[in-house]
Amino acid sequence: MTDTLTPVLTDDWDAAQSWKLATYESRGGYGALKKALGMAQDDIITAVKDSGLRGRGGAGFPTGMKWSFIPQDNPKPKYLVVNADESEPGTCKDIPLMMASPHTLVEGVAISSYAIRANKAFIYIRGEVLHVIRRVQAAVAEAYLAGHLGKNIHGSGYDLDVVVHAGAGAYICGEETALLEGLEGRRGQPRLRPPFPAVAGLYASPTVINNVESIASVPSIIANGADWFGSMGTEKSKGFGIFSLSGHVANPGQYEAPLGITLRQLIELAGGIRSGHELKFWTPGGSSTPLLTAEHLDVPLDFEGVGEAGSMLGTRALQIFDETTCVVRAVLRWTEFYKHESCGKCTPCREGTWWLTQTLARLENGQGSAEDLDLLVDQCENILGRSFCALGDGATSPITSSIQYFREEYLAHLEHGGCPLDPMASTAFA
Ligand code: NAI
Ligand code: SF4
Repeated sequence: MTDTLTPVLTDDWDAAQSWKLATYESRGGYGALKKALGMAQDDIITAVKDSGLRGRGGAGFPTGMKWSFIPQDNPKPKYLVVNADESEPGTCKDIPLMMASPHTLVEGVAISSYAIRANKAFIYIRGEVLHVIRRVQAAVAEAYLAGHLGKNIHGSGYDLDVVVHAGAGAYICGEETALLEGLEGRRGQPRLRPPFPAVAGLYASPTVINNVESIASVPSIIANGADWFGSMGTEKSKGFGIFSLSGHVANPGQYEAPLGITLRQLIELAGGIRSGHELKFWTPGGSSTPLLTAEHLDVPLDFEGVGEAGSMLGTRALQIFDETTCVVRAVLRWTEFYKHESCGKCTPCREGTWWLTQTLARLENGQGSAEDLDLLVDQCENILGRSFCALGDGATSPITSSIQYFREEYLAHLEHGGCPLDPMASTAFA
């Protein structure tokens, strides 16, 4: 089974002091930057387009296409912004990547900025992870000293400044336009799109915003070629990705594999479901993606396969729950998170997430009625598609999907006057 892993981004994570420039360079690091600086910028964009790389932040928008939207006849400065505000529940790939291999990201930033003709790049990191911010700052400082950043990089005539910016701990600032608001010094709330950031982003200038993993994938594409990248994965979801497994598996952690691998294969790689237990439900890409169950173990984990199963690939945050977990409690906990993180800009999400938690808590406590289930669905229908950004829609995903697969468990709470499972048996929300 180990041949299903494709360690590229994670390849050096176990190396001694993997985060240091000397370690990175000893493994060929920054070779791709030197190669890229000798290429025409449009050829780099074409290589990324041809590779088939799709955004690794969750939405899967083609990265090279996004870069090609930057209008080169616009006299305003161009910016690259790395979205390192990883906050989706269960998602743990960008943070370990930045801790273990920050120079992969910094090299990707330099190549990507050069390709889109940006002389300034920002890495916007989630505010709570101070250790990550310090690690990336140290890597950027090392890269400046070595001439990988700054003026006239490697004698190419190309200048690039990189700013590491700490967010202030709001989930909504992972939404790209709220992130830009935060970067400009305002309260983090989404902007209306269009215009998309590629046309009018940071300081109303053309801006490419990409996830950490997307940008970190670029050096390997330049070094090895678009065909190499495209030879992995599936027809429409090419390449590899970091899958983060958490919850009730024997060995939780990050597993880098081609897109299209299945949960059954990943669970095997992770040592199986914890001993003596069986899979009950899971999230393919964090709690904003509809839940799936044991019947979906063989769904290919690519953008198309998960979509056909009625969910979304999202951030590849595979949260695994066994039969000891109360699905109603899990969903209530996630909904409390969305209620807390709702930015308050639009009514369906601001008010709706509050009502969702009230109804769910009643059901979980066994104090509701069967009509509350219909009420819950109705509340979701009034949020989905009526909210200003994806947070509101995402809040409804675990609720509607859990009712679809576990309606009986909701009703059992009413019959038992509370949770029918022994809540002490589950470690899911300990
Ligand atoms: P989206 O599909 O609206 O946009 C994706 C990207 O493509 C954006 O950068 C957008 O600017 C660009 N884009 C889309 N259409 C475009 C056009 N016509 N012209 C130019 N650019 C265009 O998705 P969104 O709302 O940005 O992100 C939602 C995703 O975020 C979800 O799928 C979810 O999985 C993920 N997410 C990730 C989190 C994390 O911690 N990594 C947290 C929460 C959500
Ligand atoms: Fe804010 Fe929620 Fe509306 Fe998004 S959906 S703008 S997070 S209130």
